[in-house]
Order: sequence, then structure tokens, then C-alpha cells
Amino acid sequence: MNSGRTGRHAGPLVIAIDGPAASGKGTLARRLALHYGLPHLDTGLLYRAVALTLIDAGTDLDDGGAAARAAGALSAERLSDPRLRERAMGEAASRVSSVPEVRAALLSWQRKFAEGAQGAVLDGRDIGTVVCPGAPVKLFITAAPEERARRRHLELLGRGEETTLAAILADIRARDARDSSRAAAPLKAAEDAVVLDTTELDADAAFAQAVAIAERLKAA
Ligand code: CDP
Repeated sequence: MNSGRTGRHAGPLVIAIDGPAASGKGTLARRLALHYGLPHLDTGLLYRAVALTLIDAGTDLDDGGAAARAAGALSAERLSDPRLRERAMGEAASRVSSVPEVRAALLSWQRKFAEGAQGAVLDGRDIGTVVCPGAPVKLFITAAPEERARRRHLELLGRGEETTLAAILADIRARDARDSSRAAAPLKAAEDAVVLDTTELDADAAFAQAVAIAERLKAA
């Protein structure tokens, strides 16, 4: 394992990873965190946890005030609830995440994590653009929608959730459209992010390319 402090970049290393649903950014973020010995935050879980709080309370997901209060009161224990990974939670998270007050409440949480002394890897939609605009290593991970749907289908089947490929592709297209078009922190690559298309890459190949990019950016 390499040190998170190698290379010419001074200070703790922060790696920002963004990209659309099921692009492989989560797997990549976990592997990069292990490789560089850094803590990892899957920021999608924060939005999923806000949505789950509303669902458990029987509150409408479009109630922005309730969503903002849930975001402000979010506790770390919520983030390990296995229900957060269910298919419906991705869509629910996407709905609450367009509320600016929800994003503002979660921003300080994410920044605190990123500013820790050891450095960090964060993955999400707006890490390179809003949460950690100064991160020396920014990756934007993407893949064709059909390939992302195929991966997410396998992942959900592995968890015992029965769905069809067509339903997942429809979810992914709807989520891409909502996440990219919202006014508050839309999904887009930061100007200084390196785009990595993983359509033709397996997890090992994507990891090897991501490390090569990180090493190059760290030394720049
Ligand atoms: O794993 P997957 O890409 O399907 O979803 P996720 O990363 O857990 O994110 C779920 C939803 O939360 C996304 O569709 C976004 O709408 C929202 N999100 C966001 O707005 N900003 C982030 N930094 C992370 C997630």
C-alpha cells in the first residue's frame, strides 16, 4: 500500500470522485481509499439516509422542509442501515437531493470529513465542483447507460432484489436527467477533473487507470 502523502502534492491527499449512477465510482473509491490508506465517504449514503428518514416517518419525499430538517439531524448510525442500498432508495435520494437546504445541511458534514488530518476519498455527484473544489485529484467516472444498468442489475440480484434490466435502465436514465438538470449542484465534471469512461473496463482495469491518473495529478 502506498502512503497518502507521496508525490509532490503537499498536505493530506483528498481524492474527489464523481459520476452518474452505477458508473463504478463507489467500487473505485473504496479501492483507492485502501490503496492510499485514506478514509472513504460514500456521500450518496447521506442523501439516501435523508430519504429513508422521511419514508420511515411516512412523510412525502417532496416535502422540502421536512427533508432539510432530516438532513440537519442526520446521525452517523443511520448510514449503516442495509435498506439504504435498495433500488427504490436511489430514486428517493435523487428526489430529496434537489432541495438546496438539504444540500447545505450535508455540505458541512462532508467538508468536515474531507478536512480530516489523514486526507480522504469522497464519492458522489458534486465533490469536485462544490464539496472539495480544491482537491488535487478529481476523477469523473462514467459509462454507457446500458452497461451501468447491467452492473446495477447484477448487484441488486446479488442482494436478492428481483428486478428487470429494463426497469433499471429506465431508473438510470430518469436519475441521470434529474441529477444533471437540477439547479443546486448538478451532476457535472469539474473543469479540472479527468474523465474515465469504464464502459469497456472491468474493475481491475478501471482501478489501474485511476491510480495512474491520481499519481500524475498528485505530482503535477
Ligand atoms: O450508487 P448510485 O450512483 O446509484 O447512487 P448514490 O451515489 O448513492 O446517489 C443517490 C442519489 O443521491 C443520486 O442520484 C443523487 O441525486 C444524490 N447525490 C447527490 O445529489 N450528491 C451527492 N454528492 C451524492 C448523491
